Amino acid sequence: MSQHAQQPAAGSPILQPTPRRIPFEFPDDLSPQWKPDDPEFSAMVNGASLVMPFLEPFLIRTMREALPQVSDAAVADSGRAFNTQEQHHYQAHRRFNELLKRSRYPELAEIEADMTASYARLAKRSLRTRMAYTAGFEAMTLGVTRWLVDYRQLLFGGADTRVASFILWHFVEESEHKCVAHDVYHALYGSGLSSYLARVIGVLHGSLDVMWYSMRGYRAILKHDSLWYRLSSRLRLARRLGGFVRHVSPYLLRAMLPGHDPRQEPNPKWVDDWLAGHAAAPDDGVPLLDTRHPDLPVPFAQGLARSPVTMPA
Ligand SMILES: [Fe+2]
Ligand SMILES: [Fe+2]
Repeated sequence: MSQHAQQPAAGSPILQPTPRRIPFEFPDDLSPQWKPDDPEFSAMVNGASLVMPFLEPFLIRTMREALPQVSDAAVADSGRAFNTQEQHHYQAHRRFNELLKRSRYPELAEIEADMTASYARLAKRSLRTRMAYTAGFEAMTLGVTRWLVDYRQLLFGGADTRVASFILWHFVEESEHKCVAHDVYHALYGSGLSSYLARVIGVLHGSLDVMWYSMRGYRAILKHDSLWYRLSSRLRLARRLGGFVRHVSPYLLRAMLPGHDPRQEPNPKWVDDWLAGHAAAPDDGVPLLDTRHPDLPVPFAQGLARSPVTMPA
């Protein structure tokens, strides 16, 4: 542990995430091409979803191992809430991924086997390397949230609300717990030069690793659907990937600066509205977005939609 460790950054409020177990449902009538006019974006999201039940349990195990060394009770509490949120995320993704494999893409199981082996190898690395990976991946999620939320009409307009609502819930909670892995890393390793350099490597390691396995996922999906070798599909995919890179890169670059603090990354207003809307709404429903509305507003203005989940007409 660094000599600077366990020194809370001055004036940094510890934000406590709120775990929400939302009963998203992924029945057999849900198409893996849940945005019918954009199979490439559907595949990108499905590919990223494939990674979550391998990545997020790894994040949880890493956080669980780190927390006994955290002396600040508020930071430790936020770490436990982080773990509960990530547990809800990967459990929902696992159910969604089972549908993908069952309904159309059994070959995704091969990529899952590779991820099992990859995270088993990563588990043997030092706790500092794993916490840096965790904080680095979390830095990337803020750029993804910005992209998905600011361009929600383009990306989710007309999509099956069951998937759109599930994905945006996940990224709302990623914004809510944006400081946690950073705070735990800082509490254990401080901000000395070697800690900083390890953190920079973690930003690249965590984000590129997840991007690699996501890419393998969407490539397998697009190959299965006979789109991978079609020029028009590649151009649409390149357009979506360009949007991803344009929005995520600045977040990764800022995360690699000395003194970076995720608190300096403001949440999109839509995210804060979602969090406030959920806090004021009954807690036993599924917050379904109106993906046909031109603004895709937060789904709480008229209360939560109730299970069983149904598609809007
Ligand atoms: Fe997550
Ligand atoms: Fe996260």
